Amino acid sequence: MENKRPESMERITTRELAEAFIEEQVAAVKAQVGDKKVLLALSGGVDSSVVAALLIKAIGKNLINVHVNHGLLRKGEPEQVIEVFRNQMGATLVYVDATERFLTKLEGVEEPERKRKIIGEEFIRVFEEEARKLPDVDFLAQGTIYPDILESGPVKAHHNVGGLPEDIHFEGLVEPLKFLYKDEVRVVGEALGLPANMVYRQPFPGPGLGVRCTGAITRDRLEMVRESDAILREEFANAGLEGKVWQYFTLVPDYKSVGVKNNVRAFENFVVIRAVNTRDAMTATIEEIPYDLLGKIVNRIITEVPGINRVLYDLTPKPTGTIEWE
Ligand code: XMP
Repeated sequence: MENKRPESMERITTRELAEAFIEEQVAAVKAQVGDKKVLLALSGGVDSSVVAALLIKAIGKNLINVHVNHGLLRKGEPEQVIEVFRNQMGATLVYVDATERFLTKLEGVEEPERKRKIIGEEFIRVFEEEARKLPDVDFLAQGTIYPDILESGPVKAHHNVGGLPEDIHFEGLVEPLKFLYKDEVRVVGEALGLPANMVYRQPFPGPGLGVRCTGAITRDRLEMVRESDAILREEFANAGLEGKVWQYFTLVPDYKSVGVKNNVRAFENFVVIRAVNTRDAMTATIEEIPYDLLGKIVNRIITEVPGINRVLYDLTPKPTGTIEWE
């Protein structure tokens, strides 16, 4: 059965096992694609990044990475993808800044599922357009992992941005990670030399900051989400919480409240902090952030993020609150 993990396959828990896996997959990919070209939508997420690093090792310049920036990425993400893959690994990387295109399409769209749908569809469209510009691409690589095959449960079903471009014909799919669990993907990623913050990063939804800029996305609120999220991540990292808390982020609802800044009335937005722990994302508990750390984060956000006069901490477990607000 092509989609069943072989029973004899040992769980990849060590560097040595990862190296053996890499060696085996490099040979398999070479045998599958020969000297033909392979296309990969490289989001910068753990799975696609590990596929990229593996294929660079196997086929070098014959891997063509396309990184679509939909304008909803976290601060520093597109820059890191370019730095790691193009500059450090010497890979072929097509960078597409489609920010304007996505934000224009999303203008005035309030309904969460419609926002998701637009982002997902537009993503495929942009990727297809780029693929069509490239001559002689025969294979499509994907960061499918074993849980993607095993469960198409409620958490995942509508989630992943991307998918197959529908009207482009490829000779075949290259899915070197399809029998791996997430923890194994990370061990393999480390063995391939990817930076730890890329391999161990927290989950990030395909529609990105789009679902954290609730209601109709505006450019200024999107910036507030991006900046406050960067502050939160920085402070969590400084406090040694990186990799210890399952998921943490900020969001900026489409609502303003009255405040005061420099003795002047300030009618501005607020930031909500969410920090949760979970095993499978079906239920979640709240992280008990130390009070002094919370205070520091609040203070930085209200002083450093323009347009924000208030910060709240969402103490709602899942259920009843989902992890994301949209
Ligand atoms: P919820 O909000 O349903 O989230 O409690 C559970 C987990 O799934 C992530 N999530 C998404 N991931 N596309 C994704 O790739 C999505 O549209 C999406 N919505 C939620 C969420 O960040 C959390 O880890």
